Amino acid sequence: MNKKIAVIPGDGIGVEVVKEAIKVLDAVGEKFGHTFSYEYLLAGGCAIDATGKPLPEETLEKAKQADSVLLGAVGGPKWDNIPGIRPEQALLGLRGGLGLYANLRPAVMYKELASACPLKSEITGDGIDIMIVRELTGGIYFGESGRSEDGNSAYDTESYSKKEIERLLIQAFEIAMKRNKHVTVVDKANILETSRMWREVTRDIMPKYPEVKVDYLYVDNASMQLVRNPLQFDVIATSNIFGDILSDEASQITGSIGMLPSASLGEGTFGMYEPVHGSAPDIAGKNIANPLATILSVAMMLRYSFAMKDEADCIENAVQKALSDGLRTGDIAGGKDALGTKEMGDAVVARL
Ligand code: IPM
Ligand code: MG
Repeated sequence: MNKKIAVIPGDGIGVEVVKEAIKVLDAVGEKFGHTFSYEYLLAGGCAIDATGKPLPEETLEKAKQADSVLLGAVGGPKWDNIPGIRPEQALLGLRGGLGLYANLRPAVMYKELASACPLKSEITGDGIDIMIVRELTGGIYFGESGRSEDGNSAYDTESYSKKEIERLLIQAFEIAMKRNKHVTVVDKANILETSRMWREVTRDIMPKYPEVKVDYLYVDNASMQLVRNPLQFDVIATSNIFGDILSDEASQITGSIGMLPSASLGEGTFGMYEPVHGSAPDIAGKNIANPLATILSVAMMLRYSFAMKDEADCIENAVQKALSDGLRTGDIAGGKDALGTKEMGDAVVARL
């Protein structure tokens, strides 16, 4: 197969980790007889420097024409104080502009990295494996916001249509069917009208998935349950802002944020894939960042956008093998000898 991938390395370590992921993609392509072609595009701080805008029109247009998007990370202190402009606007513009309403964030604890997990081993049992399905193009992130005329009050609006909730929940139920058939809807239905509608739409969808067990948790309780008993979760379906918060918490309890990939999906097979971590300006350019989250994001791309299951398995197994061979970048080395970014990329390629 031939696939065209829009590549947006972005800022900071984004550039370095994307390079390793492309190396892995090329090696997998060679092994399985696919060709991947890449179009490099600007977004984030580097785009502000080059064009004055975090998301140039050209980037969005060219991304739309690709089969999928690989993104590194955007942002950095250099662009923190420009009035009215932030690198993160590029992310929201890509999510909204590409219609990527479902954000899949797996939180997996690798047993080789159990010592990095901050929870007791009684709590993590045989390993944490949660899939957060976060709504990504609605809610308070995209609702009306502003300031009063005198500037002394401000507002942001949480608003959802039934359609937006339904399409997100369908993704969550479909994913649950391929996992442990359990969906937890996280909301604040004791307070928010939007949350009560999430529950209503869930009840409308449930008859289509009779095998899936459904439960509801208020977000405050859910954040507590994630550290108290993470093994109770399979798929968590939730709104944009709750998913933002809970996915950071979930990533931290696995102990390895440098390991976690993500996929953002819309209608059809198009998707955008990126590591959960940010641009880490403090370690950029030093060849010490962990490229595995981005390499695993590329595996998700093969699985979800290109229906290349064997190819995706091949990458995930190679990462697993590198870990069980004791290879570690600094963030997961626990003070022991660490490999560089490039060397970890090479190690994965060697194990494909
Ligand atoms: C994330 C990030 C973004 C978000 C920021 C950088 C806009 O925190 O992808 O989780 O809030 O969605
Ligand atoms: Mg976040």
